[in-house]
Amino acid sequence: MPQTVQGVIARSKGAPVELVDVVVPDPGPGEAVVQVQACGVCHTDLHYREGGINDEFPFLLGHEAAGVVEAVGEGVTEVAPGDFVILNWRAVCGECRACAKGEPQYCFATHNATQRMALTDGTELSPALGIGAFVEKTLVAAGQCTKVEDADPAAVGLLGCGVMAGFGAAVNTGGVTRGDSVAVIGCGGVGDAAIAGARIAGATTIVAVDVDARKLETAKAFGATHTVDASAEDPVEAIRALTGGFGADVVVEAVGRPETYEQAFYARDLAGTVVLVGVPTPEKQVTLPMIDIFGRGGALKSSWYGDCLPSRDFPMLVDLYRQGRFDLDAFVTERIGIGDVEAAFDKMHAGDVLRSVVVMEGAR
Ligand SMILES: NC(=O)c1ccc[n+]([C@@H]2O[C@H](COP(=O)([O-])OP(=O)(O)OC[C@H]3O[C@@H](n4cnc5c(N)ncnc54)[C@H](O)[C@@H]3O)[C@@H](O)[C@H]2O)c1
Ligand SMILES: [Zn+2]
Ligand SMILES: [Zn+2]
Repeated sequence: MPQTVQGVIARSKGAPVELVDVVVPDPGPGEAVVQVQACGVCHTDLHYREGGINDEFPFLLGHEAAGVVEAVGEGVTEVAPGDFVILNWRAVCGECRACAKGEPQYCFATHNATQRMALTDGTELSPALGIGAFVEKTLVAAGQCTKVEDADPAAVGLLGCGVMAGFGAAVNTGGVTRGDSVAVIGCGGVGDAAIAGARIAGATTIVAVDVDARKLETAKAFGATHTVDASAEDPVEAIRALTGGFGADVVVEAVGRPETYEQAFYARDLAGTVVLVGVPTPEKQVTLPMIDIFGRGGALKSSWYGDCLPSRDFPMLVDLYRQGRFDLDAFVTERIGIGDVEAAFDKMHAGDVLRSVVVMEGAR
C-alpha cells in the first residue's frame, strides 16, 4: 500500500517551501523505501527552489540523508530492510561508456527510482538530485542506498552530498597529495570538507579564503594553516604570498561565481589545477585571456559530487569519522525539525550555519 507521509516541497520559483502530504509508492523492481533519519540543508536545495537548476516544479527537496531501509522491491540484493544507509545521487549503471571505460565515477546513466512520489492530488514530484529526503520516507533506486556502519545519521548523512563533494573535489578531482599547497575559496560546508580532505591527504599549506570572518575561524578547525579575508585583501596576491610567490598547486573554488573562479584561475601555480565544485547559476559567464589559459598550463577541472564512488568512498569516510580522524560532527551547526527548512535557508543565506540538519521525529 502506498504510504502518506510529511515532506517539504518547493511548489514554484522563489516561493517559500511548504510542508505537505507526500504519497510514497511501495518499492517496485530495483527500488527501496527508506525511513529517513536525518537530512542536511544544502545550498543546492536553495538553487532548486530559486529555479536555478531546472523548471520541473514542484520539487521534493532534501538530498543529504541517512536512514534505515524499510522495504525493497523485486530483484534487490544489495540492501535489505533494517540496513543503515547513506543515500547517494550516483547509483552507477555499470554499462554506459564511462562505466565501460572503468570510470564509473563519471557514470552518465545513474539510476533513480522509476516510480514517482506525488502530492495527494496526484501531482508528481521531482525529487532533488533524484533523492528527495526532507520527507519521513523516500523512494529511491536501491543502488542509491550505500550501506555503512552505524553512526550518527545527522553527521554521516552529510556524506551524501556536500561533504563528499568538497572532500572529493580536493582528493579525487584535484588529486591533492602529501606536501601540496592548496587554497580553498569559499568555506561553507563544501569548502571546509575540501580543507579537511586536503589535510587528510597530506597537504602542508592549506589556505582558506572567505569573505566572512566566522567562516575563516571554522576553517582553521578543519585544517586550514592560513586564512585570507577576501573582503579585506586581494585573495590572489595573498595566496601567492603564502606560497613563495607562486600560487597553490591546487585551488578549489567552492562558491560558484565568476569572480571567485577568476581568482582561483590566477591563484594557482604554473601547471597547477583549478577545481570548480561551486555550482554556478545558468546566466553566469567568465571571460579569460586565452593566452593565460594556454600559458599557465595545468588543468581546469570541475567536480560533480567530488568524483566520488559512493560504494568506495562512503564506508571509508565513515571509518575515518568513527576513528576520530574526520570530524563530521563539526559540520552540524544545528539540528532542526522538518518544518524548519525555510528558516534554515535564511540562516544559510546569512552565513550563520555550516549545516542545519533536519532530524526526523523518533531519530532525535
Ligand atoms: N559540485 C557538487 O557536486 C556540489 C555538491 C554540493 C554543493 N555544491 C555547491 O557548492 C557551493 C558551496 O556550497 P555550501 O553548501 O558550502 O554553501 P555555503 O553557502 O554554506 O558556502 C559558501 C561560502 O562561500 C563564501 N563566499 C561567498 N562569496 C564569496 C567570495 N566572493 N569570496 C570568498 N568566499 C565567498 C560564503 O561566505 C560561504 O562561506 C554551492 O554552490 C553548492 O551549490 C556543489
Ligand atoms: Zn554508467
Ligand atoms: Zn547538495
